[in-house]
Amino acid sequence: MLGPPCRRRAARRGPSTRSVLNAAVDTLRIGVIGTGNIGTSHARSLAREVSGAQVAWLYDADTARAVALADELGANVAPNAEQLIASSDAVVIASPDALHAEQALICLDAQRPTLCEKPLAPTVADARSVVDAEVDLGRRLISLGFMRRFDPGYVALKESMPAIGQPLIVHNAHRNSFAPYGLTTSGTLTNSAIHEIDINRWLLDDDYATVQVIAGRPGLRTPDGELDPILVILTTRGGVLVEVEAFVNAAYGYEVRCEIVGSEGTVEMGDGAFLTRRAERTMGHALPELWLGRFEDAYRRQLQAWVDATHAGRTSGATAWDGLIATITANAAVDSITGGPQSIDLPARPALYA
Ligand SMILES: NC(=O)c1ccc[n+]([C@@H]2O[C@H](COP(=O)([O-])OP(=O)(O)OC[C@H]3O[C@@H](n4cnc5c(N)ncnc54)[C@H](O)[C@@H]3O)[C@@H](O)[C@H]2O)c1
Repeated sequence: MLGPPCRRRAARRGPSTRSVLNAAVDTLRIGVIGTGNIGTSHARSLAREVSGAQVAWLYDADTARAVALADELGANVAPNAEQLIASSDAVVIASPDALHAEQALICLDAQRPTLCEKPLAPTVADARSVVDAEVDLGRRLISLGFMRRFDPGYVALKESMPAIGQPLIVHNAHRNSFAPYGLTTSGTLTNSAIHEIDINRWLLDDDYATVQVIAGRPGLRTPDGELDPILVILTTRGGVLVEVEAFVNAAYGYEVRCEIVGSEGTVEMGDGAFLTRRAERTMGHALPELWLGRFEDAYRRQLQAWVDATHAGRTSGATAWDGLIATITANAAVDSITGGPQSIDLPARPALYA
């Protein structure tokens, strides 16, 4: 049942030789790898909300999924990731975590500007291979999908920090209605809490020195052998305490909180809700079930910033280096579950990321 997409495929044989790095183009032809939750959301946003780009190519290991979205958006379906990359001006990687590094390496080899979803990789070795390849290339092409850096709530939080003096403690909560992808405890750290690892480093402009994970008793929905909820306690090199509650089976809804305690006051991020409802002797607002309900605006702003930066020959937001630091920190947190508090040893920062 590959009628229309096959015709689209036949219309363009062989990879395009056009490269956005060598020629000014008005509209970037974007290829999206992975058309699940976030790939579909990114592709729709690129097609309908972001200027300077069009969704030209889609690829998913589940062909029917890519075909359905291609029909909706008028895009082409590529037979594999390699051909998508060769045919696109720029690439969004939205496949499962373990595939990001190998697909990012193909993008670097083809010199395609790439927005890679987080994490850069679940393992330090894979994340390191992408940084090494980019350093060898001598040019930054990878932007990493730590979209909270574009969220109006976090941006306002960072802007307000000078008013509270010296930051001392950051309290974070990251709660999911249910564990995405059937996350294990290590996945909670390398896939989910990695958002807090990156955004607190960005807020504080400081690297981490130590990390420790603490677990209490499991919740009612915690799978056998897993830890949930957990507390991740980090210290930064500058001496700030960063505490993260990661609770992936919180059931009641999706919620992300962040409060910074400073020497002169505190500041707490708003929750992104614009309406307060009063009814049945209760005051409050609806909670989303998934991250898309909370961070929709951040995803759109991230995509527009990436498209604009690509037109200008730059990357935007988090870099591959930020992705490597986050993966090193998340893996040290995993090690602390059995090994106790871990110090975080970071490699020297290459000049490419100065
Ligand atoms: N930045 C964020 O807030 C955010 C939010 C959600 C997901 N993500 C990240 O995006 C990625 C995808 O998450 P999702 O929720 O969309 O997952 P998903 O399971 O809904 O989608 C993944 C898609 O990848 C496809 N796929 C599997 N193997 C593939 C391959 N070899 N090549 C191409 N596609 C392949 C699957 O068929 C599926 O359609 C994950 O790495 C996740 O961490 C980030």
